[in-house]
Amino acid sequence: MTDTSFPDDFLIGAATAAHQIEGNNVNSTWWALEQRAGSFVSEPSGDAADSLHRWPDDLDLVASLGYHAYRFSIEWARIEPAPGQFSRAMILHYQRQIDGCIERGIVPVVTLHHFTEPLWFAKTGGWAGDNAAELFARYVGAVAHILEPVPWIATINEPNMVACAIGTLRRATGRAPAEPDDVPGAPLGPPDEAVAHGLTAGHHAVRELLHESVPGAKIGWTIANQVVQAAPGGEQHADRYRERIEDRFLRESVHDDFVGVQAYSRNVFGPDGPVHDDAPDTRTLMGWEYFPDTLEHAVRHTREVVGNVPILVTENGIATSDDTRRIAYTRSALEGLQRAMADGVDVRGYLHWSLLDNYEWGSYRPTFGLVAWDKDTFDRHPRESARWLGHVARTRRLA
Ligand code: BGC
Repeated sequence: MTDTSFPDDFLIGAATAAHQIEGNNVNSTWWALEQRAGSFVSEPSGDAADSLHRWPDDLDLVASLGYHAYRFSIEWARIEPAPGQFSRAMILHYQRQIDGCIERGIVPVVTLHHFTEPLWFAKTGGWAGDNAAELFARYVGAVAHILEPVPWIATINEPNMVACAIGTLRRATGRAPAEPDDVPGAPLGPPDEAVAHGLTAGHHAVRELLHESVPGAKIGWTIANQVVQAAPGGEQHADRYRERIEDRFLRESVHDDFVGVQAYSRNVFGPDGPVHDDAPDTRTLMGWEYFPDTLEHAVRHTREVVGNVPILVTENGIATSDDTRRIAYTRSALEGLQRAMADGVDVRGYLHWSLLDNYEWGSYRPTFGLVAWDKDTFDRHPRESARWLGHVARTRRLA
């Protein structure tokens, strides 16, 4: 019989990101993009879930559900709205949130960059700019003192997605030379090399800085694990895609204290490019294949690339309007995680994406939340899945 229990110190909880739940992040790159006519964005983020004001309610909810940990991000665009001008009020705001976790017995997992940055940073060239790493480190230096109670700090969320999305966009709009793409039909092209360099340098600079200023904390970054698989004849495409979108970034984690794994679905390549064998009507609200085993594959693969660096699952979840399906997906994903752990993969926790329905980078339609909220009153409504995960957390066992 398989053991369905998790270790006593295994963390179970939920994750969010500032721009997706706080609302009115008006000095950020994403806010600007949302206002631009003709962009791919179908609706602006607006007030989001108003967690900028309602974070105490959200933390109360996390605690009452029985979760051990909560991942959220600090918004650089709020901390440093103009170059070198730091908002003491916003630094205190995030300090209260971190302290609020501790007071409620919740382990805070803090991300320092989750896809958004101040608009002025983009104007300096963003992650491709000459001083990107220094500017990122200057911002982190301004908040380092509030991170003292935080045991898990993620420097940058999904640098692989950021670099590959920018590379793809720049080539598509003629701002970078088209590359003869060696992987036909791949969802994303190769990373923008300057952006990949800036993100990596920023991660390493901030890791050093935090090792000195927050010596007790574990520092890492989080990688979107695409779970790249090959159908017969597709091995070469799969290997190339996996290397450029994932493994080269994972290898930058080998000296980190942990690596965040984020997995939702998978990419399968045949000899002519991506293959999709699933029925379209079984896909999630993101249009992704329903494939809960992805998490098991992701942590096993991460272990192969990074060796014994501890893993924290910093995101895993499903966009669905059917909460029963959310529970089924999460249960299967956790069963897979337990199989990998039983084989010796060192996983320290699981943070479900997401605590709340949130702004899914252009639209509110894909609902990832364990908790829904009323769009007029912002009242929170935990779904059955939220309580189900709370039971798993309280018992540290899959019932
Ligand atoms: C991101 C989240 C996003 C989620 C679902 C991850 O790539 O970190 O911000 O909402 O996936 O798409």
